[in-house]
Amino acid sequence: MSNLRIIVVDSDEVTRRAILAHLSVLPGVEVVGDAADTAIGHRMIRQNRPDVVLIEVGGMDDSGMRLAADVHGEMPRTAIFVSSPHKNPDLILKAMSAGAKEFLLRPIELHILTKSIEKILRDPSRHEGAGGRKGRLLTFFSNKGGVGTTTLATNTAAGLAKEGLGPVGLVDFDLQLGNVASFLNLSPSYTVYDLVSQLDKVTPEAVDGFLAKHESGISVLAEPKTPAEAESITPSQTTRTIELFRSAYSYVVVDTPKGFDERTLEILDCSDEIFIVSELSLPALRNLKKCLDVFRDLQYSEARVRVVINRYDPKGIIRLEEVQQSLRFEPFWKFPNDFLRIMSGINTGTPVVIGAEESEIGRSIQQFCRKVAGKSAEEVVAGEKGRSGVLGRLFGKSREE
Ligand SMILES: Nc1ncnc2c1ncn2[C@@H]1O[C@H](COP(=O)(O)OP(=O)(O)OP(=O)(O)O)[C@@H](O)[C@H]1O
Ligand SMILES: [Mg+2]
Repeated sequence: MSNLRIIVVDSDEVTRRAILAHLSVLPGVEVVGDAADTAIGHRMIRQNRPDVVLIEVGGMDDSGMRLAADVHGEMPRTAIFVSSPHKNPDLILKAMSAGAKEFLLRPIELHILTKSIEKILRDPSRHEGAGGRKGRLLTFFSNKGGVGTTTLATNTAAGLAKEGLGPVGLVDFDLQLGNVASFLNLSPSYTVYDLVSQLDKVTPEAVDGFLAKHESGISVLAEPKTPAEAESITPSQTTRTIELFRSAYSYVVVDTPKGFDERTLEILDCSDEIFIVSELSLPALRNLKKCLDVFRDLQYSEARVRVVINRYDPKGIIRLEEVQQSLRFEPFWKFPNDFLRIMSGINTGTPVVIGAEESEIGRSIQQFCRKVAGKSAEEVVAGEKGRSGVLGRLFGKSREE
């Protein structure tokens, strides 16, 4: 059974250390982070999605209480414990309506904390079904338009589904100009706007009912029907939608508009991996540099930020080796240029990983998906060789020969 993962947000160094020391020896418990500051704590919570957060409230400002309410809205399955030096009924009521499960009086009595944690550990719903899923959030992003972000998001979702690693959800968060549904030739009944309007009522088990189904096996949530509907969606609704998806799918692939608007930043903030799509052209590379600078300022770890080069031509004028040296990145993947196949995939609503799976572009995207799914370098290629091996056995020779 997996450990109970906890994050502690407390401005008092002594209290925090005492809690951490106590939790670190409790069986079945793992402290995944701690922060003195609520803004840093919030980011840490979003990135780790712990089972329990312990937050100090009732201090000079209201930031602890706000953090509790935000976490409750974004991650309803995370248990919130708050601690406060005051026991007044108003504060307790406020904490309860911010979603707190336990109210601990400061100085915190550690045996009481243990009891509260044991209650969560015993809770049978902790490991139940789809509601407990914590899908990986993979976001495709570019701050330059037209570089292939939507093409790669749709193909990756379909490619991951082919790997058979659990259900895959694809969301179009290019709210104004999205075209995921049209790339997949779907006419969905519901859009992001419809789901957002029902956010309080929709459970992880019910999400799939809102989504259009593509022949590849993926479930797709399309962009809103009108610009007004798109504009009405707030950053916090964006995060809640994403978290809901995460509870329902093993992989959540998100397509985003170009540039850094507030909603996109929310998505980037919670993403497990961000694929910045670029190509080897001067305008795209200028934008890539700006983008990498922003992510470095935001202190996103290098493991989360993956640069992928689309329409790569090894004979092109701009040398990738020089670019990666001056911009300081290692390309995670290079996708070949194949306009005809990509375009025909878009026009028929069949991503190349399905419709042209034996082509160079089809194989490249499928190998990328294997790498994303965490397969070793050998497996990434072996998936291909394995298939040609079967053909080889049937026809007495391998594809490479
Ligand atoms: N690997 C590729 N080889 C050739 N053409 C490609 C490749 N990837 C994408 N394209 C083409 O590039 C064009 C733009 O692709 P796409 O719409 O996916 O980009 P985008 O970054 O999402 O654009 P937007 O800014 O409009 O959202 C499409 O016409 C598509 O066919
Ligand atoms: Mg796009």
